[in-house]
Amino acid sequence: MSRKPKRKLRSTEWFGRHDRDALVHRSWMKNQGIPHDQFDGRPVVGICNTWSQATPCNAHFRELAQHVRDGVLDAGGFPIEFPVMSLGETLMRPTTMLFRNQCAMDVEESIRANPFDGIVLLMGCDKTTPALLMGAASCDLPTIGVSGGPMLNGKFRGEDIGSGTHVWKFTEMLKTGRMNEADMIEAEGGMSRSAGHCMTMGTASTMASMVEALGMGLPTNAAIPAVDSRRRVLARMAGRRIVEMVREDLRMSRILTRQAFENAIMVNGAIGGSTNAVVHLLAIAGRIGVDLTLDDWDRLGRSMPCLVNLMPSGKYLMEDFYYAGGLPVVIREIRKSIHRKALTVNGRTIWDNCKDAVNYNRDVITPLEKPFKPQGGIAVLRGNLAPDGAVLKPSAATPALMKHRGRAVVFEDIDDLNRRIDDPDLDVEVDDILVLKNCGPKGYPGFPEVGNFALPAKLLKKGVTDMVRISDARMSGTAYGTVVLHTAPEAAAGGPLALVENGDIIELDVAKRRLRLQVSDDELARRRARWKPPEPHADRGWVRLYCATVQQADKGVDLDFLVGGSGAKVGRESH
Ligand code: FES
Repeated sequence: MSRKPKRKLRSTEWFGRHDRDALVHRSWMKNQGIPHDQFDGRPVVGICNTWSQATPCNAHFRELAQHVRDGVLDAGGFPIEFPVMSLGETLMRPTTMLFRNQCAMDVEESIRANPFDGIVLLMGCDKTTPALLMGAASCDLPTIGVSGGPMLNGKFRGEDIGSGTHVWKFTEMLKTGRMNEADMIEAEGGMSRSAGHCMTMGTASTMASMVEALGMGLPTNAAIPAVDSRRRVLARMAGRRIVEMVREDLRMSRILTRQAFENAIMVNGAIGGSTNAVVHLLAIAGRIGVDLTLDDWDRLGRSMPCLVNLMPSGKYLMEDFYYAGGLPVVIREIRKSIHRKALTVNGRTIWDNCKDAVNYNRDVITPLEKPFKPQGGIAVLRGNLAPDGAVLKPSAATPALMKHRGRAVVFEDIDDLNRRIDDPDLDVEVDDILVLKNCGPKGYPGFPEVGNFALPAKLLKKGVTDMVRISDARMSGTAYGTVVLHTAPEAAAGGPLALVENGDIIELDVAKRRLRLQVSDDELARRRARWKPPEPHADRGWVRLYCATVQQADKGVDLDFLVGGSGAKVGRESH
């Protein structure tokens, strides 16, 4: 059987010519031991790798890439692995989100500039998944996503512990004297005990689930643990499949349709997924030309119950989720809602992929008739405090606080918060609402995960476990609490959040999707006249470009000039 597709491939422009440039393209590649027959017009597959030792969640990707390579070779393709910027959630300052769009630019231009016919994206830690999907979507080649897989369940003194979720719990226990530093050091070793990304239903697991729900990954991509041999098999199968996708010319734009995004939003509700998925899916949709809005999130997620009993909302972890049947079981369970005909990368519909899924543990994945939590979706709040919207995750919030009226206790920025939150003299009561400003995309800069900031130590010591918190920040997908996030426009862009003062009354009503500052319009106008925008964070480099062009949370926080795509064609040579 011929390995060459019938139509002329993009890579032929580099390797298939009979001129000086083709000699240059082939000759230098041959220094890697590549035989001449690899240049015979077979599909060239770029393996986009976010491996880095500074991104511990993706540190096993060199081996994973090898399995993709094997699959590409099995199917008669020509694999070429290439690195892109990696974004390690735990180490990067001030926040990886500042660099998501930079990584997406790297991905887009690396794909466009090189002789690839199809792409396999290797992604794991939170921002690597949206960044790679965004960059690849702007090129629109046949593309398949392979997630790195979650770590094995964390273990500490006989109990399962979850990445992130237990960091917040242990920090509160340390503050109240229920744990000491030696306990913490013992716990940190057991929390991250294998290769892989956070194993709670945090942002990485949510985004891996989005890859599968969007149809961009093979079935079961979301949950197979990183160290399970079936993760390697999946990588190899993805390598084989991408070669076929090139032959079929099955491009991203045929998979990432409005129906695919609507499916993903519903699945996010059913898994109790991270609020971060909101900004990431909005940004990916913007790249591929699907007009997705914040209101789609509320409309499609509003009635979706949460079926997955995983931390941070529940008690299990991703390893348990996989053994229970994983995401195909969830998709089968919500079959009456999803668009069953949405196409996926294996050439089958999402329904074909999930219709025979079996639930092996109904405590981990509950049936739709008896859901784990009645509300799994993301609530989109509006009102004079958030004219362009704010979000809250009901499944991670305290039911009694979902309708609440309280006095604002205001922190002007993160430094102000860090300075005063544990001050014994802080004027704060349990019914107050904590407000944190200037932590949005422009304000921090970079839109960090500080919206779930810890409660004042003096209230924690009294046994208070949750309070309403409002900010223009994000929160970690592993976190919990009655936390209003992504308030838009943000304070640094002159949003009404900037005008809140200590003692103002704020009203939150999640059922009515309302967030109101009970201050008269006249008074707000007076405060606005006094308001001054913050000083710029940088006068050069990436931060300057980012701050000048970044969009607000309700638009997905992409840079304004990166929305859309440029395709994969480049006409000119370099020599
Ligand atoms: Fe990488 Fe959580 S730190 S996924």
